[in-house]
Amino acid sequence: MNPGRFITLEGGEGVGKSTQVKALAAALRARGLDVIETREPGGSPGAEAIRSLLLHDHRWPPEAEALLFAAARADHVAVTIRPALAHGTWVVCDRFVDSSIAYQGGAGGLGFDAIRALHAFGSGGFRPDRVLLLELPRAEAHRRAGDRDQGAADLIGGRAVDYHRRVTEAYRRLVEEAPDRYCVVDASGSAEEVTARLFAAIEDLL
Ligand code: TYD
Repeated sequence: MNPGRFITLEGGEGVGKSTQVKALAAALRARGLDVIETREPGGSPGAEAIRSLLLHDHRWPPEAEALLFAAARADHVAVTIRPALAHGTWVVCDRFVDSSIAYQGGAGGLGFDAIRALHAFGSGGFRPDRVLLLELPRAEAHRRAGDRDQGAADLIGGRAVDYHRRVTEAYRRLVEEAPDRYCVVDASGSAEEVTARLFAAIEDLL
């Protein structure tokens, strides 16, 4: 039996990740693969409990916020991701450690290395087989984020425009530092066009 593959989708707010996680998983199932869709923060009962602490309950100091994301991830990796991969199931995940690097490390000011150290401790430095980074022109990203239900904005999604600009910059810096670790995918156009680009970016793993 082939081991499953671990694919993550990354990007700032409003790039359409959640829609694309579903669409990409469906495209892989159509190829006969066993696939689960999951998300962060969350993806296991313990991590979902931490999700509500992070996104709705309380404003944490930056260090505590990073630790909670790392704790949620450690549970998600141990309880959901590693067992699925061991069964030959593919895992398509909405955000993973690169979100912590870009948000808490970059925009939050803790630095990339601090987040990597937490990930090394919490999850043994576990990395995806492929990271798909969805990118939109800034004006388009802003318009899409504004179109979403403002009442649904969480404590992090609802942060200032400047915070989200630093998130985007941090993702760009990650790609510059290690271009072979990221697959940058244009998120503009129809959902179907974007799914086709994402699929093309992982087809070699099939
Ligand atoms: P979510 O509802 O998944 O938002 P989105 O649709 O933008 O993916 O909420 C996740 C929020 O948490 C989002 O604002 C990004 C943030 N986040 C971090 O700050 N660090 C992380 O490590 C992760 C996984 C998410």
